[in-house]
Amino acid sequence: MDAGTAYQKLIAGNKETAVLGSCASLLVWDERTYMPKGGSPYRAEQLSFLAGMIHERLTSPHIGDLLATIEGSPFVGDPLSAEAVNVREIRRGYDRQMKLPPDLVKALARVTTLAQGAWVDARAASDFAAFRPHLEEIVKLKLEEAAALQTGETPYDALLDDYEPGETSANLDRVFGPMKTELTALAGAIEGASRKPDMGIVQRQYATDLQQAFGEAAASAIGFDMTKGRLDVTTHPFCSGIGPGDIRLTTRYDEENFAQAFFGTLHEAGHGIYEQGLDAAAFGTPMGDAVSLGIHESQSRMWENMVGRNLSFWTHFLPKLQSTFKGTVDDVSPEAMTFAVNRVERSFIRVEADEVTYNLHIILRYEMEKRLINDKLPVGDIPDAWNETFKEFFDLTPPDDANGCLQDIHWSGGGFGYFPTYSLGNIYAAQFFEQAREELGDLDAMFSTGEFLPLRDWLREKIHRQGMRYRSGDLVKEVTGRGPDAEPLMRHLRGKYGELYGLSF
Ligand code: CO
Repeated sequence: MDAGTAYQKLIAGNKETAVLGSCASLLVWDERTYMPKGGSPYRAEQLSFLAGMIHERLTSPHIGDLLATIEGSPFVGDPLSAEAVNVREIRRGYDRQMKLPPDLVKALARVTTLAQGAWVDARAASDFAAFRPHLEEIVKLKLEEAAALQTGETPYDALLDDYEPGETSANLDRVFGPMKTELTALAGAIEGASRKPDMGIVQRQYATDLQQAFGEAAASAIGFDMTKGRLDVTTHPFCSGIGPGDIRLTTRYDEENFAQAFFGTLHEAGHGIYEQGLDAAAFGTPMGDAVSLGIHESQSRMWENMVGRNLSFWTHFLPKLQSTFKGTVDDVSPEAMTFAVNRVERSFIRVEADEVTYNLHIILRYEMEKRLINDKLPVGDIPDAWNETFKEFFDLTPPDDANGCLQDIHWSGGGFGYFPTYSLGNIYAAQFFEQAREELGDLDAMFSTGEFLPLRDWLREKIHRQGMRYRSGDLVKEVTGRGPDAEPLMRHLRGKYGELYGLSF
């Protein structure tokens, strides 16, 4: 078989596997939105059956034969051609799948399913002892996984690579170290400022149906196509790309807190705009897929924080907010609204954290993960280690483990190495946003008149349409001319919060 024919077969097979994957995604979306509780056991059966089919396809020796025929041939001579990128990434996924012993994969699936249920109860009761045996089992299996994968300098690097291909803890240490010092100082200075936002503005009565209409209108205005997407309600908001033309956002409403659902919606719409911007014709191949979790998060964070929590955004949207929620915010100015949605305050819960302290929450988790995976910190020592580190970072002590080491779902699902991608997203977002300002001109002037599509289209061309052509660090370099760097994020935070709080940094 010649390389061209082998490639056609490889891509056709990959696209079929993607169809199966998208069926599983739809079942998961339904499980988290509309499925009746009683459907849970059968849904698990459906998903496990599909997962088995997908795994079988992904580990078929046939893929190895096709890859071997194509690799090294002139057909993939240009490493940045769509063909070479697809082959490179399919090879990466195949090798990863083949290195993992099937028994380990099954054990992880079983243990994490049980652990997620146990975590929900343990967090509700703030009972770490109840979760501990589950987490011990997960850490043991993740160490086996890291050993089997044998990528990177440390076991942690092997796990990190799954979420952010090519990223290393050596690089993260270099970026996060100075960030931690600067963010701590910045948060301290802001808390000492005499100027404070009026938080009452976002805590008035906001009817859910009006919140939904306003959120959908804003998502559309920034460029999320509602004819190819939906917005529904869930407990833990997410965005699910089912396939071309069908991208689903979810949020949750609080009638006495406008900001929660609204910024959650903008965030998920940012993810959704990325998914809608992918090349539909390349769906089911790496060239039609997102680069990494970090790049995905850069898109959501940019729309949520850099666009949505910006004065120019509220200059445009406040009159619309006033006409939607009649009589509720007539006394509010765009400046007061902007300040209220940008309050900085040290707090225990990551998902409620502001733009400045959020990254400290992530760096803390990153440090904890490295200690667990690389330094063999006993799982039983997590609560004390967490609280000590939290005190060092935030000068606060969590009142209980529910507000400390039990707050996040990630570890119960085996997601070690996931957290750093949130901060990488913030870092990349600031780099992309600075570059967009340079190339597109006065973005604030555009936003204040409701013009968001120039930014959306710029992101589409520079990032979304590139699929997985570049690894995240290389994509950042390709778009901005510089490699990943935390300074633009720090510049953004100093500038924005200095102005809001009347401080000079
Ligand atoms: Co996100």
